[in-house]
Amino acid sequence: PKVVFMLSNGTETGVDARIGDSVMTTATQHGLDGVVAECGGNLSCATCHVWVRDDFLDAVGPPGEMEDDMMDLATSDRRDGSRLSCQITVSEDLDGLTVEIPPEQP
Ligand code: FES
Repeated sequence: PKVVFMLSNGTETGVDARIGDSVMTTATQHGLDGVVAECGGNLSCATCHVWVRDDFLDAVGPPGEMEDDMMDLATSDRRDGSRLSCQITVSEDLDGLTVEIPPEQP
């Protein structure tokens, strides 16, 4: 499946993702700036925050409770589509998933 990342400079990059990988892993493996993923996917940082595009919100589903709490620590603003990308698993159903990467996450 494809995952499309919209970068803060306005460029869009579509990459081939592996089923079962997280969206965070997909981003870091492709060297995309902006997904820092300090904790390596352990749900203990918020530097993998992304905004899921509206038309994929239903498919991706809502954040889990711990994820929700953790997102309060994100440096970028929370929106309806806010998710921690290490908690989104790539699947065939999510083919074409488009997420926006916030401008900065230290
Ligand atoms: Fe740290 Fe996702 S990588 S919470």
